[in-house]
Amino acid sequence: MWATWQALYLPKGPHFNGLLPDFSITKGMAFHVLGIESSCDETSAAVVRLEGESMQFLAESTARQEEVHERFGGVVPELASRKHLESLLPVVQAALSKAHLEYSQLSAIAVTNRPGLIGSLMVGVNAAKTLGYLLKIPVIPINHLEAHLAAVLLEGAKIQFPCLGLIISGGHTSLYEIESGWTQFRAIGHTRDDAAGEAFDKGARLLGLPYPGGPAVSRFAETGNPKAFDFPRALLAKSENDFSFSGLKTALSYFLKDHPNPNLPDVCASFQEAIVDALVTKTVQAVLKTGRNDLIVAGGVAANQRLREKLQKVLPKHVKLHIPSPQFCTDNGAMIAALGCVRWQQNAGVIGDALFQIPVAPSTEAKLSRGKQHG
Ligand code: KG4
Ligand code: ZN
Repeated sequence: MWATWQALYLPKGPHFNGLLPDFSITKGMAFHVLGIESSCDETSAAVVRLEGESMQFLAESTARQEEVHERFGGVVPELASRKHLESLLPVVQAALSKAHLEYSQLSAIAVTNRPGLIGSLMVGVNAAKTLGYLLKIPVIPINHLEAHLAAVLLEGAKIQFPCLGLIISGGHTSLYEIESGWTQFRAIGHTRDDAAGEAFDKGARLLGLPYPGGPAVSRFAETGNPKAFDFPRALLAKSENDFSFSGLKTALSYFLKDHPNPNLPDVCASFQEAIVDALVTKTVQAVLKTGRNDLIVAGGVAANQRLREKLQKVLPKHVKLHIPSPQFCTDNGAMIAALGCVRWQQNAGVIGDALFQIPVAPSTEAKLSRGKQHG
C-alpha cells in the first residue's frame, strides 16, 4: 500500500521534507478520513468519506466520562487522560467496524491537537501519529474550535463566506468572522468571564443537578415557566460583541439563599432563558452590524433546543442559520474528520518525520482568540 501511495503522491527525488506533497483530487476518487477527538472528556473517533466535494458521515464511536467526573462537578484533567488512554483504540476500532472499513482503507487521520487539556490532547495526538506512521498515511492536526464550526459540513451545509460563527461550549463563547477556506477566523467577540456552557454547568451544580449541567437544566426546563423568575441578562453596550455570564451564576446563588426549595422546573426554565436571551441578543446584534448573510452556531450549548428555536425566530429572514444536529454539537470525532477532509483537500497533512513534530500547543488558542494567525 505504501508503494501505491508513494507512487501516487510523493514527489520524486531526495528532497521530500515530510510535508504532504501537492496532489490533486481526481473526480470520483473516494477518501476515508478518520477523525480523533480527545481534548476534554469525550474520547471519540469517526470516519467521513470524501468524494470530490461531497462529504459523507459514515460512523462514529464515542466513550463518555461523565461517571468519572460527575462527583467532582467538573472535569479532572488527570482522570480524563487516563480514561482516554483506555478508550482510544477501542473507539477507533468500533468506528471502523461500524463503517465496515479496515485500517488499510483509511486515507488520512485528523486529530485534535489544540486547544484542550494537555494530557488528554497528547493521548489522541500520539495515537494518531502512531497509526499514521504504521499505515503510512498523513496525519492532519486540527483546531478543536474550528472543527466545531466545520461540523455543519457533515450535513451538506452550503455556506456563503465570509460568514459569522458563534462557538458556545463548556470553555468558549466566541464570535468569529470566517473567510472561505476555513483558515482565517477573525475574533470579534468573547465572553469576558464564564462560557455559556460553564454557566449551565455551574448553575446545575448550585441546583444539585449532575454534570454536565446543560442537558440536565434543559431537561427540567421543558416543563417549567421561563418567566417565573427574572434572572439578569448581561447585555453589554450595543457596540460590544462580548458576552458575560458570571453575574448570572451569582444571581442564582443569592436566589437560592432566599428560596431554598424553589420549583426546580421553573428555576431551570428561567435560568436557561437568561443564558439563551443573552446569546441570541448579542449574536443578532453582531449579524446586523457585520451584515453577514450566513451564521454558524456550534459547540455543546448549540444542542439546546430553546436556543435553536429562539435564534431561528429572531434572526432576520435573509440570514441563513447553520446549526449541526445535536449529536454533532457536543464534542465528537466526526467534526474533526470533517475539517480533516477540508484540510486534506488543502494538502495540510503531515507525514514521515514531520509527524513527530506536530505541536500539542494549547497556547495557540490564545492567538486564535486575539484573531491572529494561528496554526
Ligand atoms: O462542545 P462541548 O461538548 O465541549 C467543549 O468543547 O467544551 O460543550 C460542552 C458544554 C457543557 O458545558 C454542557 O453543559 C453544554 O455544552 N451542553 C448544553 C447542552 N448539551 C451540552 N448546554 C445547554 N443545553 C444542552 N442541551
Ligand atoms: Zn468542544
